[in-house]
Amino acid sequence: MAQATSLYGGAQHRRVTILDLASAKARGEKWPMLTAYEQLTAEIFDEAGIPVLLVGDSAGNNFLGFENTIPVTVDELIPLTRAVVTASKRAMVVADLPFGSYESSTELALATATRFLKEAGAMAVKLEGAHLETVKKLVAVGIPVMGHLGLTPQSLHQLGGYRVQGRTDGDVILAAALELEAAGAFAIVLELVPAELAARITAALKIPTIGIGAGVNCDAQVLVWTDLMGMGKSTPKLAKAYRNLRVEMLAATKEWADDVIGGVFPGPEQTFN
Ligand code: KIV
Repeated sequence: MAQATSLYGGAQHRRVTILDLASAKARGEKWPMLTAYEQLTAEIFDEAGIPVLLVGDSAGNNFLGFENTIPVTVDELIPLTRAVVTASKRAMVVADLPFGSYESSTELALATATRFLKEAGAMAVKLEGAHLETVKKLVAVGIPVMGHLGLTPQSLHQLGGYRVQGRTDGDVILAAALELEAAGAFAIVLELVPAELAARITAALKIPTIGIGAGVNCDAQVLVWTDLMGMGKSTPKLAKAYRNLRVEMLAATKEWADDVIGGVFPGPEQTFN
């Protein structure tokens, strides 16, 4: 049973802040984070008490119909972020900075992040890799930054696929995490790294680590919501489908279509005189 003070499902009726996340780390309290890309799932996850919702660029291959995250644009993610912010009351909403929208200069990163805060109401942004000057600049102007290390899907082609990172160069990832913390990041996603490395990074950092395919010893865990609910044709090894909504929705769709064809829908309850 969650305590009144806990981050997950906590009692307070205000938005979760980066200070709440820092307090949770100090208390040794774990918390869940989910992606959301539109109104209804944002409402459900917020009602469930999920403290942080990420409008991930995983919208690319879970909502926008792309093969991966690389084609996603700022103009595509802004309306999705606005929907998630509007539909939630308590969660802190973090927007992913899409590939090509922040890497080339701190000025570009600042302009992009500013759009997510002003036009969509995001409370923080996430960016992949160790862009330390950019993190410093964003934090200096008041934009909280979540880092993302390990498997960084925007570098898919450079990495040669969705492969575990840090098996031989774990110290490089640990050093990058420490540098991101020093630059002012408030949390770091660790994706697809050995559990032992993630545990080492988690112990070394004062800010929370958020694992996905990074073992149980991170401070928090994140999942792409479609993986959690079994919406895809398959579930990646780093995730667990807690429901099989794809099968449920397919069955409901066929049932309704059969009723339409059989003249059973609409019935008397759905008919107006
Ligand atoms: O875009 C995304 O969903 C992410 C999570 C996997 C952390 O970056």
